[in-house]
Amino acid sequence: MGPGRVICMKTCYNNLREFIEFLESKGDVKRIRTEVSSYLEISRFTDHESKSPDGGKALLFEKVRGSSFPVVTNAFGSPRRICQALGVDHLDQLGERIEKLLNMGPPENIRQFFHLVSSGLAMTQFFPRRHRKPHPPCQEVVHTGKEVDLSTIPVLHCWPLDGGPFVTLPLVFTRSLVTGKQNAGMYRMQIFDRNTTGMHWHIHKDGSHYYNEYCRAKKRMPVAVAVGTDPATTYAATAPLPRGIDEMILAGFIRQKPVYRTRCLTVDLEVPAEAEFVLEGYVDPGETRAEGPFGDHTGYYSPVDLYPVFHVTAITHRRDAIYSATLVGRPPMEDCYLAKATERLFLPLLKSMFPEIRDYWFPWEGVFHNIVIVSAEKEYPGQAQKLMSGLWGQGQMSFCKAIVVVDEAVDPKNPRAVLRELIRRTDIDSDIWIIRGVLDVLDHSAANPLFGAKIGIDLTTRVPGEPDRKKHTDVQIPSVSLSPVQGIELAGRSLKGIVSCYPLDEPGKNRIILFGVDKTPERGGDYFARGLQEIKELENYNIMILYDKEIELSDSSLVLWKLFNNVDPERDFYRKENRLIVDACRKGPAEGYTRKWPDDILMEQ
Ligand SMILES: Cc1cc2nc3c(=O)[nH]c(=O)nc-3n(C[C@H](O)[C@H](O)[C@H](O)COP(=O)(O)O)c2cc1C
Repeated sequence: MGPGRVICMKTCYNNLREFIEFLESKGDVKRIRTEVSSYLEISRFTDHESKSPDGGKALLFEKVRGSSFPVVTNAFGSPRRICQALGVDHLDQLGERIEKLLNMGPPENIRQFFHLVSSGLAMTQFFPRRHRKPHPPCQEVVHTGKEVDLSTIPVLHCWPLDGGPFVTLPLVFTRSLVTGKQNAGMYRMQIFDRNTTGMHWHIHKDGSHYYNEYCRAKKRMPVAVAVGTDPATTYAATAPLPRGIDEMILAGFIRQKPVYRTRCLTVDLEVPAEAEFVLEGYVDPGETRAEGPFGDHTGYYSPVDLYPVFHVTAITHRRDAIYSATLVGRPPMEDCYLAKATERLFLPLLKSMFPEIRDYWFPWEGVFHNIVIVSAEKEYPGQAQKLMSGLWGQGQMSFCKAIVVVDEAVDPKNPRAVLRELIRRTDIDSDIWIIRGVLDVLDHSAANPLFGAKIGIDLTTRVPGEPDRKKHTDVQIPSVSLSPVQGIELAGRSLKGIVSCYPLDEPGKNRIILFGVDKTPERGGDYFARGLQEIKELENYNIMILYDKEIELSDSSLVLWKLFNNVDPERDFYRKENRLIVDACRKGPAEGYTRKWPDDILMEQ
């Protein structure tokens, strides 16, 4: 994301509508005045807009068929709007504010003491407060019991193969039965009928943990969902805070003003008083229902699975409520900007635990759980591996499938610099570390859900105590340089099923070449891996990556997205001496993959 500075930002919005007004005053909202359908049409507009340069504008759909509520989408979806949403002119400012707090060491003199006390007191002003006025805006209109009808809300059916309409920007409030603390998390909700939805909290998330507490106690779990809050509050529900820390404190800290909450009418929970909509209800322990498929932020459909059922006992809303939604899909889309905020905000916190970290970057193609590149100051042997292990043990960083560590002098946010390091340095024998651990629920590459192979790549300079990398001189470009067309001909002579190839021009100790292959039940990854190693003309290429034949190999974002998403580093890496073949194709039973391989999300299907 570009470092562009945002001018005339506003630090605090009381609610969603103030944020929309602000964006509109900056010419950053497109109003769609013609009537549109919440079935695929709003998402088609949104898909198109979010793929325009720099994320396009926020969209306000004024007339939605069958509903009296307007819909806003893509409100966070650009480098400028995410900064405006969080009241900063650069996302690193959020981290800088956290860093200041973390650096408040023990006072060395009276002056510092008073500074510390006043900073601590200042923090408490960001804690959530009770809305004291009699009629909170979110309860201007109240529907309870039989009046509850979710179909009045213009919930989007986002993608053609989705299992139904999904609430995509819900702030789900729950309370721990053990500690009594409230949690806010964002978990999508599929509308089942007029008063029930799915509750898609992944097994690793706090909402799911609290649900387990109620299951053990065989008690009904109260749940409240706010949709359409001020942007800092919406963002906070997505932030990976440690369990037990109220996301509303983070929201208050970001917006420099507390979140005002009000009690729900039918459940014992508190929600942001200025929300556009609130759904109140409960989840019964043990009751589950099939949810999905859903076109997810991975760019693939996440599969049908059993999740708890949310029973809605009340819908309350503002008189002229605006429904807020997002569309996720193959990156970059709106959620990338929310995740970028998390990346920048959490850097100082990670640094406080791992002081060697200088910076890090989650490439969008890695959809956040698949790869992170970390630059680190290295002082002793094994420090890169120690860092990887540490990160794999930290909260939602534990979902990360691949961690690449580079020297502190390398900018991890510069893809060319990282590629250069990879090509110049990687010793296939000794720099690649494969272990097993937790995987994100949305990882589809592993043979089984939730648990599987992870890869660490250590590209740092070796220090005394670490064995040297094998000496390889820079490989010369072969005398007959392979062009994509020549490659097909060369390889095609001796190996069936190669349909295209694309050598990368970057010179170095490693040379990379991509292949498009036509897999069949008889010709799996193993067939190509063995066959390619025997082709004489390819002997100078020691890293070969296989893609399904329809993949455009010159599209760097596409090939990275497929590589990061489709590869199980244990099953799909073929290593022999200094050669590595990686199978980034879809997998099937021939490769021991018996789950259903997910479909790519496409708007026209
Ligand atoms: C648009 C959007 C949709 C999300 N949907 C889900 C979801 O359906 N299930 C889930 O477990 N996490 C989802 N997440 C990620 C969680 O909100 C995030 O991991 C958050 O930290 C969870 O909070 P918790 O740790 O308090 O449970 C979503 C994030 C965004 C930005």
